Amino acid sequence: MNERNDMHAKLGTADRRHTILIIGISRGIGRGLAAEYLRRGWFVIGTVRSSTVAPELEAMAAGMPGRLRVERLDMTRPSEIGTLRERLTDDRLDVLIVNVGISDHNVPVAEIDEATFNEVMSTNALAPLKVIESLQDLVVERGTIAVMSSRQGSISLNDRGTYDAYRASKAARRRSRLPCLGCFPE
Ligand SMILES: NC(=O)c1ccc[n+]([C@@H]2O[C@H](COP(=O)([O-])OP(=O)(O)OC[C@H]3O[C@@H](n4cnc5c(N)ncnc54)[C@H](OP(=O)(O)O)[C@@H]3O)[C@@H](O)[C@H]2O)c1
Repeated sequence: MNERNDMHAKLGTADRRHTILIIGISRGIGRGLAAEYLRRGWFVIGTVRSSTVAPELEAMAAGMPGRLRVERLDMTRPSEIGTLRERLTDDRLDVLIVNVGISDHNVPVAEIDEATFNEVMSTNALAPLKVIESLQDLVVERGTIAVMSSRQGSISLNDRGTYDAYRASKAARRRSRLPCLGCFPE
């Protein structure tokens, strides 16, 4: 065994690629994260709700064959979380980031309807828990699991009001034991 193989054998990482799963890469911060991890040489698995964005994502990974895999997931549909889990059975993740989050479009609390409130809460607070519960066993020991947070999830920093349903959902998410990405004071 040469020195390099010996080192890999000791680390138990021979030929294992660095892989990240990002939930929500169709646009915005999620797409930016995917591009940055690709640039750094990682293998990226990213989820979208609609395959219409696939060509743009493929363009992002042009010249990096096999380094980006796009999967389908609407995070608020438990059956789709189950299907994704099955499709990832043979994958091992170094990082799992739940990036998805939706806004309440700053509709005042007095005017917000229950369906909109429930959608914001279920997408931002409940769905990340379900995704992580289902996928966490794919994350390697010493790997990272994170959920995208927001300054607006901080109660102590809320000196302006506005976006109350969004703030409530991000604050509620933080009350679970799950880590967050971009944590602000409680
Ligand atoms: N932008 C900011 O200034 C800011 C600041 C602090 C924190 N954040 C947080 O950062 C994260 C990303 O923000 P962003 O501004 O990049 O958001 P964005 O541009 O609105 O993108 C949201 C992403 O979530 C996906 N998504 C929405 N609902 C989904 C669902 N039910 N299932 C699966 N995917 C779903 C969207 O997919 P579709 O294309 O299919 O809709 C899209 O990929 C969010 O958690 C947000 O709260 C953002």
